Amino acid sequence: MKILMTGAAGVVGTALRHELRQRGYALRLLDIREPAMLDGEEFIRGSIADAAVVAEAVSGVNGVVHLAGCTTDASMPEQIEGNIVGATNVFEAARLSGVERVVFASSHHVVGYYPRRRRIGTNVLLRPDSRYGLTKAFGEQLGALYADKYGLRCLAIRIGFANNRPADRRRLAVWISWRDLAQLVEIGLRHEQLRYAVVYGVSDNERSFFDNSTAFDLGYAPQDNAEAFAAEILAGVPAEDPDAVGSHVIGGHFANGEYDGSVSRVYEW
Ligand SMILES: NC(=O)c1ccc[n+]([C@@H]2O[C@H](COP(=O)([O-])OP(=O)(O)OC[C@H]3O[C@@H](n4cnc5c(N)ncnc54)[C@H](O)[C@@H]3O)[C@@H](O)[C@H]2O)c1
Repeated sequence: MKILMTGAAGVVGTALRHELRQRGYALRLLDIREPAMLDGEEFIRGSIADAAVVAEAVSGVNGVVHLAGCTTDASMPEQIEGNIVGATNVFEAARLSGVERVVFASSHHVVGYYPRRRRIGTNVLLRPDSRYGLTKAFGEQLGALYADKYGLRCLAIRIGFANNRPADRRRLAVWISWRDLAQLVEIGLRHEQLRYAVVYGVSDNERSFFDNSTAFDLGYAPQDNAEAFAAEILAGVPAEDPDAVGSHVIGGHFANGEYDGSVSRVYEW
């Protein structure tokens, strides 16, 4: 199975390349910068904001793992270029080339203003905590539109924190290991009944903020749990600031940015 991975030079792409190669996938990589240590993979340098480049990149592949885009809470023009124009180009190129599957890297920041004391599924109203979360939500909805209107199959994965280990108290709840993320990506690429679904990209964390039953229904069986790192991480980090909204809600520091007013507002709905 040949896969186009956009944003392949990034943190997630670098680790997922390794996981997917091990699972037997042939990879074509698209990024504006060259990924480290190409290993039998094709590489196209170019931007997802350029529809012609994306059309060339999807040609002949069986599926797309779409990671590229704006990954910080940068200004709206940057969000629009990466997460709106770029994502639209990827779905449209897949449709025009007859590529049936798109796995979309969404983010838990689409629901980042939910208070942590609620355990939420993927059936709740969105509460984006940033321009980044807002434009990631657009990408999820592109997947829904293209699944319904054009018959694509799409899995949107609301990634929590993908890395070798969780980084702090909050990320003990949202961490996902590379092998668990690769398992979700494979569900998106292969599950026969999948039409469109949204899942949380988190491991089997004891402190999870999420009800990930949609993922479990698709066969996700996470192998890792952030709790294995808890003692070490909690010993090294200060207590969270109770006056910062990001200490109360799922999104953490993304929720803090530009927040104006009392923390109590996030508990009003
Ligand atoms: N790392 C996480 O824990 C995490 C959490 C939530 C969501 N995500 C999502 O997963 C995806 C990958 O995240 P990451 O941490 O690897 O980010 P990253 O910033 O490390 O990598 C993003 C990659 O996309 C490339 N890119 C940016 N704009 C591009 C464009 N216009 N055309 C082509 N390539 C472009 C960059 O060069 C970079 O290599 C992103 O969509 C991100 O929003 C990641």
